[in-house]
Amino acid sequence: MTGHPLTTLPAWQALAAHAGALQGVHLRDLFAADPDRFHRFSFALGPLLVDYSKQRITQETVGLLKELARTRGVGAGRAAMFAGTRINATENRAALHVALRNRAERPMAVDGADVMPQVRAARARIAAFAEKIRKGEWTGATGKPLRHIVNIGIGGSHLGPMFVAEALKDYWQDGMTLAFVSNPDRAQLDDVLNGLDPGATLFIVASKTFTTAETSLNAGLARQWIIDHLGPEAVGRHFAAISTNLKGAADFGITGDAVFPMWDWVGGRYSVWSAIGLSVVIACGAETFDQFLAGGEAMDRHFETAPFDANLPVILAMIGIWHTDFLGAPALAVLPYDHRLRLLPFHLQQLDMESNGKGVMSDGAPIASSGPIVFGTGGSDGQHSFFQLLHQGPKPIPCDFIAALKGADGAGPSRDLLLGNMFAQTEALMRGRVTSDLAATPPELQAHRSFSGNRSSSTLLVEELSPYALGMLIALYEHKVFVQGLVWGINSFDQWGVELGKELAKSLEPALAGDTALLQSRDSSTAGLVAAYLAAKARKL
Ligand code: F6P
Repeated sequence: MTGHPLTTLPAWQALAAHAGALQGVHLRDLFAADPDRFHRFSFALGPLLVDYSKQRITQETVGLLKELARTRGVGAGRAAMFAGTRINATENRAALHVALRNRAERPMAVDGADVMPQVRAARARIAAFAEKIRKGEWTGATGKPLRHIVNIGIGGSHLGPMFVAEALKDYWQDGMTLAFVSNPDRAQLDDVLNGLDPGATLFIVASKTFTTAETSLNAGLARQWIIDHLGPEAVGRHFAAISTNLKGAADFGITGDAVFPMWDWVGGRYSVWSAIGLSVVIACGAETFDQFLAGGEAMDRHFETAPFDANLPVILAMIGIWHTDFLGAPALAVLPYDHRLRLLPFHLQQLDMESNGKGVMSDGAPIASSGPIVFGTGGSDGQHSFFQLLHQGPKPIPCDFIAALKGADGAGPSRDLLLGNMFAQTEALMRGRVTSDLAATPPELQAHRSFSGNRSSSTLLVEELSPYALGMLIALYEHKVFVQGLVWGINSFDQWGVELGKELAKSLEPALAGDTALLQSRDSSTAGLVAAYLAAKARKL
């Protein structure tokens, strides 16, 4: 039997052999042998400092990973993305989200047509609309300024703007509130609407397709809420929309100045840079959002031009591949030690797992490997919940620790405690504790209190959580995921795996409305679960 074309590559085989050779080497020893290890394996770019010296790598690992990236055509793939090539082949689309943060005069084209004039025009319209809301020039139907912004969307039309809005909360205009509704569970919408003044509320319906069931349902309920309180004529003053589907938005009743475009060359999980970020622009202002774009643009220039061994997205991508494919890591833990970044794990879950959670390569052949499970939470909460497994669980999981050096109290006592905890976690994971350190511990407890250590982490620090630094951080992860997809031979820009569930949910709609005959063609579990729901409905529960 011949092996997989990826794993039989000499570059892959060399890494496999190298992993074997490194098996008995502990990170403690690597630090002891090289006092300069931090400088050797850390990288500063603008306000960002990335320390990857606590990763289980050596100089040789880096060289071999670079060779794998080169062999897998990462350079050509990167160039194709920036050139607007239709690299999302299964949907016949480009993946040109970098155009959204291209603030230079540089043209960026899809099929030879420069998209930048449309991008710039949309940016100007978003800024003007946001300014009118902020200044109270665009009012609600009763003449009140709109001060409560509710974004209705799901997936990339929700997670990106919600994360960025929370991260930039210190930049919100005084008196402005932002809320995000995604779930078709009525409880979420009710929680958001409860206590809101309809006359001062603007709903943003964010949906690339304008056909997503959850968003359509919630948008319809929100419209009814406005109609109930202010009458049908008020809808046009209290709704804005972002979509590629202008007809869908118009059919809903949103037209003219309140509709903003999207393009099929922007994937949902890469769309926060587009008009999907409207809620952020309204809350923080166009200048702040422009700084966010500038940070993304700076990372784009770095990714596009830096050699692989000095290219942060490439370095982090290849370290991830090293763990997934050669050290057997099943997951990646994302651990922001910053309250404002606490939603980052959710955003990265979609970015990474929807992009690289694939079963076939771009040509339809089975994969050799694909992306890790991504999970995480804000620190130091995580320390008091799942970190036990990170320290002593049998399958080491690499971690990304992320923090801003200055917080709400500057570099004050709260930050001391927070960052001290974070630094200590990276140290504990790396060093571990051997039984010889436990001489004073009763022998029967020594095994329980010892830690293997040798567990990898990267630490990403920014001076402060500025819009610019945030833009750099998100673009860094976007490009990292893309590079990994290139190495694995995956199309990182489609998401066919979510379609079957949507189709089956649609086909169950008549059954949930009572047409039980349809259930005969379903398996007994699905039929039984629907029957339980119908019985509850009959009991008016
Ligand atoms: O179902 C997955 C998905 O297609 C995501 O990729 C996307 O971000 C989300 O649904 C929402 O889609 P839309 O913006 O079209 O409503």
